[in-house]
Amino acid sequence: MAREIAVVGVVGLGTMGAGIAEVVARSGIRVVAVDLDAAGVERGRGHVEHSTARAVAKGKLDDDARQALLDLISYGTDLADLADADLVIEAVPESLELKARVFAELDRVVAPDVVLASNTSALSITQISVHTGRPGKVVGLHFFNPAPVQRLTEVVRTVVTEPDVVADVVAFTRRLGKEPVVIGDRAGFIANALLFGYLNHAVAMYESRYATREDLDAAMRFGCGYPMGPLALLDLIGLDTAYEILETMYAQSRNRLHAPTPILKQMITAGLLGRKSGRGFYTYD
Ligand code: CAA
Repeated sequence: MAREIAVVGVVGLGTMGAGIAEVVARSGIRVVAVDLDAAGVERGRGHVEHSTARAVAKGKLDDDARQALLDLISYGTDLADLADADLVIEAVPESLELKARVFAELDRVVAPDVVLASNTSALSITQISVHTGRPGKVVGLHFFNPAPVQRLTEVVRTVVTEPDVVADVVAFTRRLGKEPVVIGDRAGFIANALLFGYLNHAVAMYESRYATREDLDAAMRFGCGYPMGPLALLDLIGLDTAYEILETMYAQSRNRLHAPTPILKQMITAGLLGRKSGRGFYTYD
């Protein structure tokens, strides 16, 4: 019998975690949103408030529906707050060590049958799962940025993920209005494995001054119908996140398409992380 999912825990309230909390609450499901520090909680809360206010301004949500959505989310800084969750989605920064610690702690806090999902973009779900006593109940559940807009979810199964766990997570993401695909545990899954070779190549063209950022982006928008050009998209994803994804994929595949273009690291070191820091390939207000 399918699991009843009435309360969802979200751990890590950066851009993705806050977006996931919003998506889940939008479907009328209660969310317990936890960040490991108080500033993270406030950032996450602000993100959800801003995004839902924007939806009201655009006429996509009325004030009452917005309030009902906000009321469905409770916030905290303690993983023990997740004790009643029926499913937990982890979205902390892309560090295997950090995720391993979070999963080990979640394993102690939530009931033994509860599914633990990671929103990692490129890290190994198998490596994360072995830090719990329930590797068969660990999956990848990868959302795309902006989470409220992009319809895809990648559901990642390992060699030991139980089939009913995959089926339940697929059904859950359909409930959120998403379009799930199911894949095995390989760095980058489907979408990032295809996307990041292209993004990295665009950075290399920019680095060699082959074309301006505007022309690189215009070519893909107006020539290929992409909603954003590659450099604008990297600014949306975050250059630090993109670099980590490329490094992880390169370490696994040794495919030179995924060897991070050097200027990415230089920009990160200089604090140019994209939209979130106000400047990346472009400058933001
Ligand atoms: N939250 C909620 N809704 C949002 C939003 C947000 N953060 N950003 C945009 N939207 C909504 C808008 O309200 C708008 O909705 P309506 O059309 O119903 O009014 C719609 O999305 C379009 O937004 P805008 O008109 O403001 O701007 P746009 O048309 O330029 O679209 C975009 C913005 C949705 C970001 C679009 O450019 C796009 O899809 N870009 C590509 C994004 C992409 O490729 N994402 C994947 C990145 S890879 C990844 O995420 C994986 C990983 O692991 C790193």
